[in-house]
Formats: sequence, structure tokens, C-alpha cells
Amino acid sequence: MITFNANDRILVTGASSGIGKAIALQLNALGATVVASGRSQQRLEEMRAQCAHPDALFLEPLDLLTDMDALPSWVRSLREQYGKLSGLVPCAGTALISPLREFDRTMATSFFDIHYTAAMLLAKGFADRRNNVGRGAAIVFIGSRAPLVAQAGLSIYAAAKGAILAATGVLSKELASVGIRVNALAPGLVKTPMAEKTYLSFLPEERRQEEIASYPFGLGEPEDVASMAVFLLSRHSKWITGQTIVLDGGRY
Ligand SMILES: NC(=O)c1ccc[n+]([C@@H]2O[C@H](COP(=O)([O-])OP(=O)(O)OC[C@H]3O[C@@H](n4cnc5c(N)ncnc54)[C@H](OP(=O)(O)O)[C@@H]3O)[C@@H](O)[C@H]2O)c1
Repeated sequence: MITFNANDRILVTGASSGIGKAIALQLNALGATVVASGRSQQRLEEMRAQCAHPDALFLEPLDLLTDMDALPSWVRSLREQYGKLSGLVPCAGTALISPLREFDRTMATSFFDIHYTAAMLLAKGFADRRNNVGRGAAIVFIGSRAPLVAQAGLSIYAAAKGAILAATGVLSKELASVGIRVNALAPGLVKTPMAEKTYLSFLPEERRQEEIASYPFGLGEPEDVASMAVFLLSRHSKWITGQTIVLDGGRY
């Protein structure tokens, strides 16, 4: 059985909603100390109201795009406040359907900022040996199935997610010598506010039903993704690094 203890301190961004929230809640229920970040203080507080051990869940609201250069020192400040970190899950982000005719440089930059650059700057702060526990520490990036299986309209999102999947293997090589494992998840469609707002709600009803039917085990639940993230953060996965795990319920 997977368990953590209070010295397993794990930073989860995007923890106010959807997948990040499910990860934060599962980690907290299993005994880890969770530093939970998101933009909305209110949504973070709602999340904490649902958690098993509120005394081990700390809220750190931050818009990750406001001062990106400061992200490594933000991680350091969290270490000063809570102690050395054992895990990092950069989960904050949003999606976008954008065909080529609507390609826009500013939009593309903002997607790379949140899905790649912010995640890398957080990883940089985490990998500073003063901020992590060394052997036993783990990073789990939240990628997507989008870069692995081409789908119209997702060029910006898929490219930004592809960048972090590419970095996963590279960082696993760079950080193995200091005992940090690095893995990524590549989920298909998961039932979250983002999936509804940025994707499903744009589909005509017939297309929407087709999309749902293409998942033989149904659309993912945030908890399905959280279970794998928790495993990859735990000691039970101590021999796994540099991997991207596809979670898509056998999508056709
Ligand atoms: N749902 C899917 O089908 C699916 C599939 C594959 C991958 N993913 C990935 O999974 C991750 C989570 O998505 P989700 O579906 O759980 O979405 P969600 O329910 O909309 O949650 C997104 C989270 O990211 C936070 N966030 C967004 N922009 C931010 C910023 N600039 N600074 C700080 N926090 C920010 C949000 O904070 P606030 O709530 O405070 O605004 C929220 O906590 C994303 O990286 C997404 O690309 C999702």
C-alpha cells in the first residue's frame, strides 16, 4: 500500500481544480505534506475543505505567469517555510483549440510559458540541492496525449505539451546522479472544468458523443490521473525514471 509521511513534502501546482486538485487530495489522504498552489485562493480553500488532513495541506496562491524568473526563488522560499521538498508536480495549465489560420504568436508564447517554461523553472528550483531531499525525490510533469497522437486544432497545445515530454527524458538523465527521478503523464481526455470549457463545449453534439465513445473505458476521472502521479512520487516507483505514461482508457 502506498503511504507517505509528514516529511514527504510535495509541491503541486494547479491544485485548485481538476487533476491537480485530485493529486493534492490523494497525497494528503495518504499522509504527505502538500504545498498546494493555484491562482484562486477561494478555490484552494474549497479544496482544503475537502481534504483528509487540513493541518498538512498548505495553500500558496500564485499566478505562475506573473513573474516567471522568480519561480526558482519561490521554490526556495517554500523550502525555507516548510522544509526540503521530496516531490514536485507542475500541473497548472489550460488548453486551447486553435487551427492554423488562428495561430497567434502571443497565444503560442503564453502556452509555452505555462506548460513548458514555468514547469522547467519550477523544476530548476526544485533540483537545487538545498531545496530537495536528494535520493527519493521525484518530479512528475503533467503532459498530454495530444503530442503523441495528432488531432486537428491542437498544434499550440500539443507542441507546448510535447516540449515538457521531451524535457522529461533529458532531465531524468541530468538529475539521476543527484537521486531525483523525473517522469511524465500523458492523459487523454479527463473530466475537468478545463476539458469542458476549452474542448467538449465547442463540439457539436454528435461529435461530442463520438469523442466520448472513442474511450472504451469512458473519459478519465481526475482521480485516475492522480493515482498514477501518486505512484510515481512514491517509493514504490523507485526504479522508474525518464518515462512518459499514457493514460487514455484505451482510446481508439
Ligand atoms: N482535462 C484534460 O482532459 C487534460 C488532459 C491532458 C492533460 N491535462 C493537463 O492537466 C493539467 C490540469 O488540467 P485540468 O484539466 O485539471 O484543468 P483545470 O481543472 O482547469 O485546472 C487548471 C489548474 O491550473 C491552474 N492554473 C492555470 N493557469 C495558471 C497560472 N497562470 N498560474 C497558476 N495556476 C494556473 C488553475 O488555477 P485556478 O483554478 O486558480 O485558476 C487550476 O488549478 C493541465 O496542465 C492540462 O493541460 C488535462
